[in-house]
Amino acid sequence: MAGEPIVRAKGISKTFSGVRVLNAVDFDIYAGEVHALVGENGAGKSTLVKVIAGVYSPVGGVLSLDGKEVSFRSPHAAREAGIALIHQEPLTFQDLNVTENLYLGHTRGRGRALINWPELHKKADELLESLNVRMRSRDPVRGMTIADQQMIEIASALSQNARVIIMDEPTAALSHGEVQNLFGMIRRLKDQGKAIVFIGHRLDEILEISDKITVLRDGSLVGECSRKDADQDKIVHMMINRTFKELIVKETAPIGDVVLETRGLSYPGDYENINIKVRRGEIVGMAGLVGAGRSEVASAVFGTQPAASGEIFIKGEKVTIKNPAMAMKKGIAMVSEDRARTGLLVAFSIKYNITFAILRKIASRFGFVQNRKEQELVNRYVKYLNIKMRDDNQRVKELSGGNQQKVVIAKWLLTESDVLILDEPTRGIDVGAKMEVYRLINELAKQGKAILMISSELPEIMQLSDRVYVMCDGNITAEFSRAELDGQKIMAAASTGRQRSEAS
Ligand SMILES: Nc1ncnc2c1ncn2[C@@H]1O[C@H](COP(=O)(O)OP(=O)(O)OP(=O)(O)O)[C@@H](O)[C@H]1O
Ligand SMILES: [Mg+2]
Repeated sequence: MAGEPIVRAKGISKTFSGVRVLNAVDFDIYAGEVHALVGENGAGKSTLVKVIAGVYSPVGGVLSLDGKEVSFRSPHAAREAGIALIHQEPLTFQDLNVTENLYLGHTRGRGRALINWPELHKKADELLESLNVRMRSRDPVRGMTIADQQMIEIASALSQNARVIIMDEPTAALSHGEVQNLFGMIRRLKDQGKAIVFIGHRLDEILEISDKITVLRDGSLVGECSRKDADQDKIVHMMINRTFKELIVKETAPIGDVVLETRGLSYPGDYENINIKVRRGEIVGMAGLVGAGRSEVASAVFGTQPAASGEIFIKGEKVTIKNPAMAMKKGIAMVSEDRARTGLLVAFSIKYNITFAILRKIASRFGFVQNRKEQELVNRYVKYLNIKMRDDNQRVKELSGGNQQKVVIAKWLLTESDVLILDEPTRGIDVGAKMEVYRLINELAKQGKAILMISSELPEIMQLSDRVYVMCDGNITAEFSRAELDGQKIMAAASTGRQRSEAS
């Protein structure tokens, strides 16, 4: 695009405790353009946008706004200058309503009594309407979806006249419909001349929404290319020096006896009469649309939300699972899409998190943890998963998102269970890390684990599964063997119930 960029970042460098995480990176942001920023976990994407948004100050390089050099002392200063950073986990206040969340920043310190609330509510409704957002000013934020809370953050930025809106992995927690809704918003903002920076890991999304793509690798700029010169292979190659097809490889493992079986599992409103079997060495895919009830079934097996009726068998023995502790005792482990729910303690060290689930196993007979044994295990899994970190005493919250996910996986792998439930195991993970997770899933199947893998990514399901169940609206609508797998048939089975209910 011709003309001056709104923001020009030139030669930006940043270090944390002496470790260089950004190395003389250039990044320009133009009005009316969606500029995507991609790269593997830990490549420095979040750090770069945090420098631009005034969260961190760089150790080297120059930031300019409309051609004039600037240095923001705080996120607040960057906001005043028209640069807004939308966080992946929205920073909304749950106990307040929409208007209060929208204008909190502007009204702070002015004394709430002096605020003309009716007028502010009216202003909020006008803003929401102009943005084509359905919520209303007086709606409470508690209970809203992440997608709606994101909309509030975007609206809030616009109410402060933001010209540059930076979104760090905004789609990570959204369903397909919500992503499309967000993309509609991004296109409208672009038409209004706003500049958008979009960070993401899903290359189909990147190719759909962006005009320009910048790739970072290990804190350095690999290159920038325009959308029309880019395709998945090219971007993957820039990110990791490998092609897409090399990413998912299925290895066959000998398949043995049934390890996990459910009979007639039901939970009114969530799922009905679920009968599944997972055998030793088998990877069973659970396909379906977001909201089909797959995670709820997983929660029943893992005990986070037991089923209302039905039976669960482990190695042919009927078991009662009322909570995760009971599930773990029966040899069931689960990696969930929601890191907070799987009990990642972000304020604690990587080492602590990894060993937390198995403290008992490595404790000696006398009840204290054997340090050397612990260290050996931690080292082995950190290496196995290729977790990028300074050292294992680093706190988990300092890790990039994808590396946090690997810590969760390591944690459950260490429990050495028979049944492994993976709920969207590669969400928020970059392509390089994905490949490592696929390799790991194959490897675990070879070790004889029974794996139930819930995934909304069809390529993942198609490539890795030995067998696939498809769920729709709480029911299993189809089952395919590996030989029968067909993307279109899976999609059809995933939406049959819906079509039926829409037609009726
Ligand atoms: N506050 C911090 N303190 C110490 N190190 C940090 C901090 N924030 C980030 N890092 C390190 O800087 C590097 C870049 O991290 P960053 O979060 O920018 O990566 P990213 O590209 O956003 O990755 P992801 O895709 O996983 O979100 C990582 O090695 C990370 O561990
Ligand atoms: Mg990040």
